[in-house]
Amino acid sequence: MYSATVQSRYTTRKGICLLNSCYKSGNYDALYARYLKNASQLVSQIKIGRRMSYVDLCGGTGAVSRELVKKGAVDITIVDLNWNMLKRAPINIKKIVANAEEWKPERRYDVVFCRQAITYLNLERLEKVIDSALKPGGFFVFNLIDTERSTIASMDHKAYALDGKKYQELTLILFGMAHHFQRSEKDGIDLTSFRMYGRSDIESAFKNWDIRINHAPKAMYFMLRKSRNKG
Ligand SMILES: C[S@@+](CC[C@H](N)C(=O)[O-])C[C@H]1O[C@@H](n2cnc3c(N)ncnc32)[C@H](O)[C@@H]1O
Repeated sequence: MYSATVQSRYTTRKGICLLNSCYKSGNYDALYARYLKNASQLVSQIKIGRRMSYVDLCGGTGAVSRELVKKGAVDITIVDLNWNMLKRAPINIKKIVANAEEWKPERRYDVVFCRQAITYLNLERLEKVIDSALKPGGFFVFNLIDTERSTIASMDHKAYALDGKKYQELTLILFGMAHHFQRSEKDGIDLTSFRMYGRSDIESAFKNWDIRINHAPKAMYFMLRKSRNKG
């Protein structure tokens, strides 16, 4: 388990984003278009009820929130430490700028979603936050990459085209940390670094939770249920 937090951020004068979660407000959706497609898959892991309350944790520009709105949810709170991301999320939802590891929710929710982001967080600290955010019997739903790649050292390069735009990406994995360069010909370059968590990391941080996992191509969807007997 990696306990170090990778919070450093740096933007060069040319606007190139370096290091964890330093997505520029304008280019995240364009640069990561390929990765935004599974927001609906994450949301469909659970039945969405109009009367239920939802958190989109580390919600960024609101990919999950948008899916929730489409499915009729009205009580949605999005939390992210980067206002430049949050300001692009749907306007009719509650927005909170906070570090997910330290967030102190003022109320309880039925479901907390976290898409493409749990790998930025310390899991022990996150467990406490999720516990305080959920009602008894509530769900924490998130995704992880399902990878066979070595977490000691590996490298992948991909070049692809999407909606007429050319993209390049390079992923370097070194000792459990992934460093992902993403580039599109029109939208610039981004570098983000995150941990390569696996199922055992989740199980050891969320010990008394009921854990269910659905496997999809290259992705694992986790549904963690808080005990009904916990306050
Ligand atoms: C890959 S983006 C995913 C955004 C969104 N969930 C989505 O599905 O498009 C990761 C997001 O996590 C946010 N983030 C990273 N570390 C965070 C932290 N400690 N607390 C809150 N947000 C964080 C970043 O600002 C960024 O918006």
